[in-house]
Amino acid sequence: MPVTTNVALGVGGGIAAYKAAELARALMERGFFVQVVMTRSAEEFVRPLTFAALTGRKVITNLFSATSAEDTLSSAIEHIRVAQENQILVIAPATADLLAKLAHGLADDFLTTTYLAFTGAVVLAPAMNTNMWNHPATQENLRILRSRGHVIVEPDEGILACGMVGPGRLAEPEAIAQIVATVALGAANKATAKHDLDGETVLITAGPTQEPLDPVRYLTNRSSGKMGYALAEAAAERGARVILVSGPVTLAAPARVELIPVRTAAEMRQAVMDHLEPATMVIKAAAVADYHRANPPQQKVKKTAARLSLELDPTPDILAEVGRKKGDRLLVGFAAETQNLVEEARRKMQSKNCDMVVANLVSQQGVGFESDENEVTLVLRTGETIPVERASKISIAHRIFDEMMKLRLALHSAQ
Ligand code: CTP
Repeated sequence: MPVTTNVALGVGGGIAAYKAAELARALMERGFFVQVVMTRSAEEFVRPLTFAALTGRKVITNLFSATSAEDTLSSAIEHIRVAQENQILVIAPATADLLAKLAHGLADDFLTTTYLAFTGAVVLAPAMNTNMWNHPATQENLRILRSRGHVIVEPDEGILACGMVGPGRLAEPEAIAQIVATVALGAANKATAKHDLDGETVLITAGPTQEPLDPVRYLTNRSSGKMGYALAEAAAERGARVILVSGPVTLAAPARVELIPVRTAAEMRQAVMDHLEPATMVIKAAAVADYHRANPPQQKVKKTAARLSLELDPTPDILAEVGRKKGDRLLVGFAAETQNLVEEARRKMQSKNCDMVVANLVSQQGVGFESDENEVTLVLRTGETIPVERASKISIAHRIFDEMMKLRLALHSAQ
């Protein structure tokens, strides 16, 4: 039985509406209580009775459908009740029209008003014609919904009801139910999450930097920013104010995080120095380019038959500069190494005045750069080294904060 048990299942109007009945059953098999809410057009495809029989509960079909004044009042506030009583809102099939309404906050029926009043986790399983799916308007709406932290269950590819072949078919009900179960687990963990970073301001750098060589070319590295973004998410979850200075990445900023996008090492340095004052913890997860081309040419460099040599200058070492201005802040650096992991991490900790260095061997397969997982060794100022087994970047991020909080306590009690 999942810890989060109440799911509101919104059914949109589309050929795939019948599959929502299978989804309702798959959710109930996993121990969820399911309250079905159908849009007016969904009723054109499936009868509410089907869902009522499956779930054993009255199906909500329409806002303001009541006839008496009393009924009108109770139905006018029922969407608030549904929003409060359920921990997860799943919409399947989510039509292009529904996605547009949700993205822009339109609320003209029971399901869309419930969405606006809802504060829990949202899972959307779209289904529509391939051209409608690919349309920039739909893709832009999806981007907006993703940026709110909603989970989008991508449609499958195949032959659609309209005869077209391509993406647009509702994902399999079993697959959607499995994702809802995972989301439920995450929501339960969040609800019990500790708030030990209340009152802290955490300044985090993430991603690579890009150093221009001319107006169209640049030097960069393979950092995806995933570790830094996971740290930002974990810190925000634990109650901190989070300032995330990020190089160019393709990730969405986690909820409640102040994002400062930068491009070059010089811009990253400036952003860090501008936001250092309120920071009580600084974590430098960014893979800052060590060299850049000073004064890159204004015009594109043309090809010739001759060998081209580039002269590069060192970039400012941001971590070392923060180390010199550290004060009472906890300072964490990262070390990506291909050999002598712990010795190199210790050397960096000393020379950059850090409290902890998170060291990882970048030569390993499946961890580190670009990966969703990592395997690191935490090298502490106290002399301790803590190997952290391979795990998701979000759980490594939590482990880093666990150790930072222990360090904070140790430093306080030593004073
Ligand atoms: N770092 C930084 N500014 C730079 C280079 C690195 O703030 N110009 C920070 C990184 O964010 C990371 C740490 O320094 O937290 C270690 O980076 P790394 O490149 O491994 O260390 P270097 O001192 O550059 O040593 P080397 O390249 O010789 O391994």
